Amino acid sequence: MTSTVRTGGAHAPSAPEFPMPRAEGCPFDPPPALKKEQEQGPLRKVRLWDGTTPWLVTRYADQRALLADPRTSADITRPGYPSSAPVRGSSFSFILMDDPEHARQRRMVTAPFTIKRVEAMRPAVQKIVDGLIDDMLAGPPRADLVQAFALPVPSLVICELLGVPYADHDFFQENSKILISRSAAPEERAAAHAKLIGYLDELMGHKIARPADDLLSGLGTRVEAGELSRREAAEMGVLLLIAGHETTANMIALGTLALLEHPDQLALLRDSDDPKAVAGAVEELLRYLNITHGGRRRVAVEDIEIGGEVIRAGEGIIVPNDIGNRDPEVFADPDRLDLGRDARRHVAFGFGVHQCLGQPLARMELQVVYGTLYRRIPTLRLDAGLEDLSFKHDGAVYGVYELPVAW
Ligand code: HEM
Repeated sequence: MTSTVRTGGAHAPSAPEFPMPRAEGCPFDPPPALKKEQEQGPLRKVRLWDGTTPWLVTRYADQRALLADPRTSADITRPGYPSSAPVRGSSFSFILMDDPEHARQRRMVTAPFTIKRVEAMRPAVQKIVDGLIDDMLAGPPRADLVQAFALPVPSLVICELLGVPYADHDFFQENSKILISRSAAPEERAAAHAKLIGYLDELMGHKIARPADDLLSGLGTRVEAGELSRREAAEMGVLLLIAGHETTANMIALGTLALLEHPDQLALLRDSDDPKAVAGAVEELLRYLNITHGGRRRVAVEDIEIGGEVIRAGEGIIVPNDIGNRDPEVFADPDRLDLGRDARRHVAFGFGVHQCLGQPLARMELQVVYGTLYRRIPTLRLDAGLEDLSFKHDGAVYGVYELPVAW
């Protein structure tokens, strides 16, 4: 077996650039060049903005195996880590740490994201969703769905959960957008990060002085007990605030666009009052759209063999879950949006120890949204040509900047 194993770098001279462009007019499909890499083999080399050539793990089964492999590290400061843009000393809390510290910090915030606690929030989320739809229906029969609905829903929810004043949403939405944009200058991103850390740190001070029943107050108690530094608590707050609103907001807007472009599927969802069917539709849209399109990033800490090749210790690894979710070995006719299929095995929330902490919350929010919006506004339609829309090719999270709709 070992004699047939090739070592890293074999394809490096001709490695294609990553990320790759999507095809014109196909906003929901992964880049064709990326799918070609999947057809060509399980492990490929790509070239990043800084000239480095990490490995690309193309197939679903290998992606899950690798993300669950303790011989990989998510630590962005390790040499060889394939970062998506220049790093300027900014930390992003436990999402970029390894166990045991990752597990220690993650455990501090798991409780509010358990299915039971999230289900208890469902009526409040339904109220938020209904209230925003009421506001839309009370105004002129057109809106930008991103500003009127997609961004406020998860922002209101995560603010309530963390104990962040929603009145500050312009500030944190704007700075989050800059922080996760690949096209923003490094200084700009560092400044946005510093502003968010400063904001969360100040808030943490208030929570320590006057604790309330929210997640940040819980972190404040841990700071007081010496379990977490104030800086670590602020960084965790930034991670949860950004992850809690950007991702779900993009799923709401892009999911709506995908449904408007697939009217037969939209009709299935609108005409069903079966919560299981709505939950299934959420899973399929997560699979099909896979909005965290930059791929999971890791670096090998030991040699790892995959498909007859060896990833050497210190080499970077990219796991593009968008093509994992379109792997024909796992999902029949993978490029078809089929709300009736069982898509629960998708990897849109990642896999392994870093698998999305907020997934029960994201699922519940999306179930409420997809189960309500199209029933309450059955005439909802796109108020622009698909070609006029601007997509977030440059962001860590894919989506649409504005979604003009009418009804
Ligand atoms: C549809 C919405 C969402 C999607 C598609 C999504 C996707 C992901 C993915 C792919 C990861 C894995 C990152 C990696 O392996 O490197 C992740 C991690 C994470 N997500 Fe989400 N997410 C969503 C919503 C949320 C929400 C609502 C929260 C709430 C705060 C959240 C909090 C987190 C956190 C804290 C992590 C880091 C987990 C760790 O490192 O242990 N996410 N998410």
